[in-house]
Amino acid sequence: MPNIPLSKPDITQLEIDAVLDVLHSDTLSIGPKVEEFEARCAKISSRRHAIAVSSGTAGLHCVMVAGGIGPEHEVITTPFSFVASANSILFVDAKPVFVDIDPKTLNMDVDKVAAAITPKTKAIVAVECFGHPGGMVELEQLAQKHELALIEDACEGFGGHVDTPRGDRAIGSFGRASVFGFYPNKQITTGEGGMIVTDDDKIAAMCRSLRNQGRDGMSWLAHQRLGYNYRLDELSAAMGVVQCQRLEELLENRRRVAQLYFDRLMTNRYLILPTVMDDLHMSWFVFVVRLNDLFEPGERDEVIRLLRAEGIGCNNYFPPIHLQPYMVEKYGYKAGDFPICEYVSSRTLALPFFTKMTEKQVLAVCATLDRVLEKVLMARKGRF
Ligand SMILES: Cc1ncc(COP(=O)(O)O)c(C=O)c1O
Repeated sequence: MPNIPLSKPDITQLEIDAVLDVLHSDTLSIGPKVEEFEARCAKISSRRHAIAVSSGTAGLHCVMVAGGIGPEHEVITTPFSFVASANSILFVDAKPVFVDIDPKTLNMDVDKVAAAITPKTKAIVAVECFGHPGGMVELEQLAQKHELALIEDACEGFGGHVDTPRGDRAIGSFGRASVFGFYPNKQITTGEGGMIVTDDDKIAAMCRSLRNQGRDGMSWLAHQRLGYNYRLDELSAAMGVVQCQRLEELLENRRRVAQLYFDRLMTNRYLILPTVMDDLHMSWFVFVVRLNDLFEPGERDEVIRLLRAEGIGCNNYFPPIHLQPYMVEKYGYKAGDFPICEYVSSRTLALPFFTKMTEKQVLAVCATLDRVLEKVLMARKGRF
């Protein structure tokens, strides 16, 4: 039986040596590796400032506080994401206003964002779902027109870029500030870690202070404001530097695995594959397919159960955020509120996806998937 995980970090001797070098030094925190990692991330995202933090979630929290977002504000965001994008709005007691998604890009439908703007709207938190930058150019224009802060949750999109009429734009270069995440399933990893990038001097200075217990200067016990310990340590940053040096190799391997899946699954009559657009250069985070209408609601979960039983890692990226218990309790959301998100969400299937995945492994996943899909359909016929 195969044993193919959903994801796997790509760590070489280079990362190991870099971490060992830090361990042999006396500086485990607040040191040169964080600065080097920040400089590399600023360059990759074409931003003037980069502020390393302990996670993507911490980065989003800092940006919300630095942006002056508070209880009197509404923030528009997507219900189809990892929960942290919406949680960042709750952290500052603002109200998340969800809008439904575009079924192709799986990002927010820009027309619906425009329709959701009210006098209370202060910001838009936009996510590049699964690394897809669809709609980001349009959202930036919309935010500018309405003088709203666009906060780019780029946690899933490190290394992607977009062709625009004004030239190439990196994921992480949109809006007032952007945040990357470096959890081990991401395009690059530092174990835990994240990075805020921005061109705004004030936001940058505030985020530097917030991540460092509210300090403004070097004095260790002077705290200008309420802050947090969201610092990234030197060991993680050293890993991040090497992963940035290897970025092209890592992204190329992700593209290679995505292409293998496309080649093998293109003709599968039960699946909808990710939408790729010529001008939007995905940075592949995960490979998520969708079951089409030949399947009934609920059958996707059975597919996941059977795949796992056959040693294939997979998951239901993502359950709708508005239907998570704490969201229902706080805001009274119910099934049917965001029908496209809910429909898509009930049919998604994230397949094993990592840089070192071999063609043999991709073929094994696809063959097992074929078998499992047929089995689930046959089981239904048997019930009637
Ligand atoms: C869209 C999105 N936002 C935020 C985060 C949070 O990042 P972290 O896990 O580093 O806190 C993630 C991580 O998976 C994510 O996918």
